[in-house]
Amino acid sequence: MSLFQLTVNGQAREAEVDDDTPLLWVLRDSLGLCGTKYGCGIGQCGACTIHLDGQPVRSCTLPVSAGVGHEITTIEGLAEDDQLTPLQQAWCDLDVAQCGYCQSGQIMTAAALLKNTPEPDADAIDQAMAGNVCRCATYDRIRKAILTAAG
Ligand code: FES
Repeated sequence: MSLFQLTVNGQAREAEVDDDTPLLWVLRDSLGLCGTKYGCGIGQCGACTIHLDGQPVRSCTLPVSAGVGHEITTIEGLAEDDQLTPLQQAWCDLDVAQCGYCQSGQIMTAAALLKNTPEPDADAIDQAMAGNVCRCATYDRIRKAILTAAG
Protein backbone atom coordinates (compact mmCIF):
# COMPACT_ATOMS: atom_id res chain seq x y z
CA MET A 1 0.00 0.00 0.00
CA SER A 2 1.14 3.55 -0.76
CA LEU A 3 -0.34 6.97 -0.19
CA PHE A 4 -1.17 8.76 -3.45
CA GLN A 5 -1.80 12.50 -3.69
CA LEU A 6 -4.19 13.34 -6.49
CA THR A 7 -5.93 16.40 -7.90
CA VAL A 8 -9.50 15.43 -8.70
CA ASN A 9 -12.06 17.93 -9.97
CA GLY A 10 -9.82 20.75 -8.78
CA GLN A 11 -9.45 19.41 -5.25
CA ALA A 12 -6.47 17.82 -3.53
CA ARG A 13 -7.40 14.26 -2.61
CA GLU A 14 -5.42 11.32 -1.28
CA ALA A 15 -5.87 7.60 -1.28
CA GLU A 16 -3.95 4.76 0.33
CA VAL A 17 -4.14 1.81 -2.02
CA ASP A 18 -2.03 -0.92 -3.60
CA ASP A 19 0.33 0.51 -6.18
CA ASP A 20 -1.29 -1.27 -9.11
CA THR A 21 -4.85 -0.25 -8.25
CA PRO A 22 -6.64 1.07 -11.34
CA LEU A 23 -7.58 4.73 -11.07
CA LEU A 24 -11.23 3.73 -11.63
CA TRP A 25 -11.37 1.93 -8.29
CA VAL A 26 -9.61 4.76 -6.46
CA LEU A 27 -12.19 7.21 -7.78
CA ARG A 28 -15.15 4.98 -6.98
CA ASP A 29 -14.10 3.15 -3.81
CA SER A 30 -11.61 5.47 -2.12
CA LEU A 31 -13.01 8.85 -3.15
CA GLY A 32 -16.69 8.00 -3.53
CA LEU A 33 -16.97 9.37 -7.06
CA CYS A 34 -19.29 6.73 -8.46
CA GLY A 35 -20.30 8.57 -11.63
CA THR A 36 -17.45 6.83 -13.43
CA LYS A 37 -18.60 3.32 -14.33
CA TYR A 38 -17.04 -0.09 -14.61
CA GLY A 39 -17.98 -1.84 -17.82
CA CYS A 40 -15.39 -4.23 -19.21
CA GLY A 41 -12.29 -3.51 -17.15
CA ILE A 42 -10.03 -4.02 -20.16
CA GLY A 43 -10.17 -0.67 -21.92
CA GLN A 44 -12.70 -1.73 -24.54
CA CYS A 45 -16.06 -0.13 -23.72
CA GLY A 46 -15.41 3.46 -22.60
CA ALA A 47 -17.74 3.40 -19.57
CA CYS A 48 -14.86 4.41 -17.29
CA THR A 49 -13.72 7.41 -19.35
CA ILE A 50 -12.37 10.37 -17.38
CA HIS A 51 -10.11 13.26 -18.33
CA LEU A 52 -6.44 13.46 -17.52
CA ASP A 53 -5.29 17.00 -18.23
CA GLY A 54 -8.37 17.42 -20.41
CA GLN A 55 -7.82 14.35 -22.56
CA PRO A 56 -10.08 11.29 -22.40
CA VAL A 57 -8.53 8.19 -20.83
CA ARG A 58 -9.79 4.81 -19.69
CA SER A 59 -9.51 4.77 -15.92
CA CYS A 60 -9.94 0.98 -15.70
CA THR A 61 -6.57 0.33 -17.29
CA LEU A 62 -4.69 3.28 -15.80
CA PRO A 63 -2.80 2.61 -12.57
CA VAL A 64 -3.38 5.17 -9.83
CA SER A 65 0.23 6.33 -10.15
CA ALA A 66 -0.50 7.58 -13.67
CA GLY A 67 -2.84 10.17 -12.20
CA VAL A 68 -0.28 11.72 -9.87
CA GLY A 69 0.75 15.22 -10.99
CA HIS A 70 -2.13 15.52 -13.44
CA GLU A 71 -5.54 17.18 -13.38
CA ILE A 72 -8.12 14.43 -13.09
CA THR A 73 -11.67 15.30 -14.05
CA THR A 74 -14.65 13.02 -13.59
CA ILE A 75 -18.26 13.49 -14.61
CA GLU A 76 -18.87 15.04 -11.17
CA GLY A 77 -16.41 17.82 -12.02
CA LEU A 78 -17.60 18.65 -15.52
CA ALA A 79 -20.22 21.26 -14.59
CA GLU A 80 -18.88 24.62 -13.41
CA ASP A 81 -20.49 26.59 -10.56
CA ASP A 82 -23.34 24.05 -10.50
CA GLN A 83 -24.18 25.00 -14.08
CA LEU A 84 -24.48 22.18 -16.56
CA THR A 85 -22.24 22.59 -19.57
CA PRO A 86 -24.01 23.10 -22.92
CA LEU A 87 -23.12 19.50 -23.71
CA GLN A 88 -24.75 18.19 -20.53
CA GLN A 89 -27.79 20.39 -21.13
CA ALA A 90 -28.14 19.06 -24.67
CA TRP A 91 -27.88 15.53 -23.27
CA CYS A 92 -30.81 16.27 -20.94
CA ASP A 93 -32.89 18.18 -23.50
CA LEU A 94 -32.61 15.38 -26.04
CA ASP A 95 -33.17 12.59 -23.48
CA VAL A 96 -30.05 10.85 -24.71
CA ALA A 97 -29.77 8.32 -21.91
CA GLN A 98 -31.76 5.11 -21.92
CA CYS A 99 -30.47 2.82 -19.16
CA GLY A 100 -27.80 5.44 -18.52
CA TYR A 101 -24.95 3.17 -17.50
CA CYS A 102 -22.48 4.16 -20.22
CA GLN A 103 -23.50 7.79 -20.36
CA SER A 104 -20.93 9.41 -18.10
CA GLY A 105 -18.21 7.85 -20.21
CA GLN A 106 -19.97 8.99 -23.37
CA ILE A 107 -20.23 12.56 -22.06
CA MET A 108 -16.60 12.68 -20.97
CA THR A 109 -15.44 11.52 -24.40
CA ALA A 110 -17.78 14.01 -26.10
CA ALA A 111 -16.60 16.85 -23.83
CA ALA A 112 -12.99 16.18 -24.76
CA LEU A 113 -13.93 16.10 -28.44
CA LEU A 114 -15.61 19.52 -28.21
CA LYS A 115 -12.65 20.92 -26.33
CA ASN A 116 -10.27 19.80 -29.05
CA THR A 117 -12.67 20.34 -31.97
CA PRO A 118 -15.37 22.90 -31.10
CA GLU A 119 -17.34 22.32 -34.33
CA PRO A 120 -16.96 18.66 -35.28
CA ASP A 121 -18.81 17.25 -38.28
CA ALA A 122 -20.69 13.95 -38.10
CA ASP A 123 -17.64 11.98 -39.25
CA ALA A 124 -15.41 13.53 -36.58
CA ILE A 125 -18.06 12.75 -33.96
CA ASP A 126 -18.37 9.14 -35.07
CA GLN A 127 -14.61 8.74 -35.08
CA ALA A 128 -14.17 10.26 -31.61
CA MET A 129 -17.07 8.31 -30.11
CA ALA A 130 -16.32 4.97 -31.79
CA GLY A 131 -14.72 3.50 -28.67
CA ASN A 132 -17.68 4.21 -26.39
CA VAL A 133 -20.14 1.37 -26.50
CA CYS A 134 -23.85 1.78 -25.67
CA ARG A 135 -25.90 -1.41 -25.36
CA CYS A 136 -29.12 0.62 -25.66
CA ALA A 137 -27.80 1.97 -28.98
CA THR A 138 -28.38 5.63 -28.16
CA TYR A 139 -25.82 6.57 -30.79
CA ASP A 140 -28.15 8.77 -32.88
CA ARG A 141 -29.11 10.87 -29.86
CA ILE A 142 -25.49 11.09 -28.74
CA ARG A 143 -24.55 12.43 -32.17
CA LYS A 144 -27.45 14.95 -32.07
CA ALA A 145 -26.54 16.14 -28.57
CA ILE A 146 -22.94 16.76 -29.58
CA LEU A 147 -24.03 18.63 -32.70
CA THR A 148 -26.50 20.67 -30.62
CA ALA A 149 -23.87 21.57 -28.05
CA ALA A 150 -21.43 22.48 -30.82
CA GLY A 151 -24.09 24.90 -32.06
FE1 FES B 1 -12.85 0.79 -18.82
FE2 FES B 1 -14.63 -0.65 -20.23
S1 FES B 1 -14.54 -0.29 -18.06
S2 FES B 1 -13.05 0.67 -20.98
